[in-house]
Order: sequence, then C-alpha cells, then structure tokens
Amino acid sequence: MKKVAVIPGDGIGPEVIGATLEVLKKAAPNQFEFIEVSMGGNAIDKYGEPLPAQSLKTCQEADATLLGAVGGPKWDNVSPDLRPERGLLGVRKGLKVFANIRPAKIFAPLASACPLRKDIAEKGIDFIIVRELTGGIYFGKHEAFTTPDGEKAARDVMEYTEHEIRRIAHVGFKMAMGRRKIVTSIDKANILTSSRLWREVVEDVAKEYPEVKLNHLYVDNASMQLIRVPHEFDVIVTENTFGDILSDEASQIVGSIGMIPSASLGDNNRGLYEPIHGSAPDIAGQDKANPIGTILCGAMMLRYSFGMNEEADRIENAVDDVLKAGLRTPDIFTEGTKLISGSKMKEEIISRL
Ligand code: IPM
Ligand code: MG
Repeated sequence: MKKVAVIPGDGIGPEVIGATLEVLKKAAPNQFEFIEVSMGGNAIDKYGEPLPAQSLKTCQEADATLLGAVGGPKWDNVSPDLRPERGLLGVRKGLKVFANIRPAKIFAPLASACPLRKDIAEKGIDFIIVRELTGGIYFGKHEAFTTPDGEKAARDVMEYTEHEIRRIAHVGFKMAMGRRKIVTSIDKANILTSSRLWREVVEDVAKEYPEVKLNHLYVDNASMQLIRVPHEFDVIVTENTFGDILSDEASQIVGSIGMIPSASLGDNNRGLYEPIHGSAPDIAGQDKANPIGTILCGAMMLRYSFGMNEEADRIENAVDDVLKAGLRTPDIFTEGTKLISGSKMKEEIISRL
C-alpha cells in the first residue's frame, strides 16, 4: 500500500479533496492508504496552530501529499505567524518541494471559455510554469518596524542563493527537453539584484542544455506577452512570487483557475500535489466548486510519485470526455453548455473511468 497524506484544508478544500479521493479509488483500487491530516484554519481551531508538528511529520513520512486549499476570512485577523497560509508554507518547506509545476493548457472543448481573441487562442496554448517554491520573499525576513522619525514601516526580503536558482533551472531545462525545447526565464533584472543573480545562474545552467533555446523576459513584459502570444511559451522558469502571480494569469488564459493542478517536487519523488486555486470561501458548502483542478492533481500524483502513467491517462481522458460532453461547473459555464454541480461533475468523471 502506498501512503498518501491528505490535507483537505478549509473552504472548498474538503469538497474537492473528497471528490479526488473517490476518483483515485476508482482509477487505482486498493493501492492507497489515505491518512487525513489537519492543516490550515481548521488546525488553528482544533490545535491553536496552522501546522501541528504531527501533521508535518505525517506528510514527511508519506509517499506523497495531496492538498485541497487553506485559509478563509475567519482567520484573517489572527497574528501573521499563525495564519493558515503559514501552515501551507510550512508544508512546502518541510517537504523541501522547491519546484512547483503548473501546466497551462487549453482543453479543446473549453476553447470558448478562453477570454483571448479567437485568432490568438487558435494557435494553441500549452505551456508549463516552473515556479520556485521554497525561496524568495515568501521565505525571506518579514519585518514591521518603526523608523527613527516614528513612522510605521515594513519590509520583506527577497533572497536567493546560487544553488536554489541552479536546481530550479535544471528542472525547467529537463522539462523543456521532453517538450518543445524552449525555456523562458522570467525576472526583473533591470531592477532587482536577486534577479541579476537569477539570470546569471540560469545562463550558466543553460550551457548544459545546448538544444534548448533560452529567452529572458522581465516579469512585466512577460505578463503582457502571455496574453499577446501565449503559443510562443513552452516552459517558464521563475521565482516564487512572479510564479504565483503569472500562474493566476495563466489560469484565466486557459479558462478557469478551477482547472489547473500543480505538482511540487523536490530531490525525491515524495511530491506535494495541490490545485492552484484557493479555498474560495464565497462558494464553500454550496456544491459549486469545480473539482477538476484537484482531480488532475491526483493524476499528476499517480504519474510523478508512483509512475502509474496508465491510471493517470485514464483520469485525464475521463476529464476530457466530460468536457467534450458539454458538462460544466459554474466557473467554466458558457452558453450552449450544461451547468452541473461539483458533485455531479465528480460522478460524471467517475462514470467514465
Ligand atoms: C498559490 C496560493 C498560495 C501562494 C497562497 C494561498 C499562500 O496563492 O498556491 O498560488 O501564494 O503560494
Ligand atoms: Mg497563487
């Protein structure tokens, strides 16, 4: 039995995770032991902290971790180091998953949900964001202080070491070798010193991959090119915060944030799998959440952590079939398609497995 730590989390987290576990049980019966772990707002309520030591330990001992989403307005006013998001960062850091892989691909049946001009969308959109996940501002020093004049001030430090950049660059170049062999490294090297180091190290790593074409873009320009010429992107490699922002942009380009899974990997294959969406407290408990992003995380887990490619294919094909049949949760609904609930979406996927 493979051990999978499962963090349902808050908001819509438990709904999309519940759906995913059912899909996994159908696609790969009797293969997994699922161990539920408390993290996020629910852990604050139960244990007074977002990531109890035992929760992290369970994840570290498991073969893989599957996560829904954490956070919500209920915990907006807790102290900054007790926020649910701190638990999430603690899991990422504790599992040492420095490479967050976020595929952005337009599903053919969802082409009409792409907000870009038809002639742009038609060129095909299929790129991957490789986001550095355990460094940068997210993990730099955070500080609120008072200036000598008595004014309130705050700072957050963006710091990268050479080895952190080197290892994420390798992930990007390796991925590009199995694809269209184009890497776009995104930074703000015209302003940031950390970006200048980023660029220098990425260029050095590139020498080991002579077949791959490397481009550099400043992040502001990149956000523009992503909607102007999305088909030109293959693999994007970027630091934590830029990757956070650009992956939300990417989710809208391909239709909905509810559709994008992610895999976070480190030096071994004990990955962390989480959809890129948040806990969506506004629709929690209403059976409106699209479970597809998380279900596709399940497929990524089968592929990357367990080498179960056939089962992963089956899940991805079932998702494709449901979309082809015109079934849509509210986030991807367009005229002429059929609106269904999140749980109905799950049932329709399972029935096609
Ligand atoms: C994401 C999310 C998280 C992040 C939040 C919830 C802390 O936006 O996974 O993209 O910023 O990394
Ligand atoms: Mg984000």
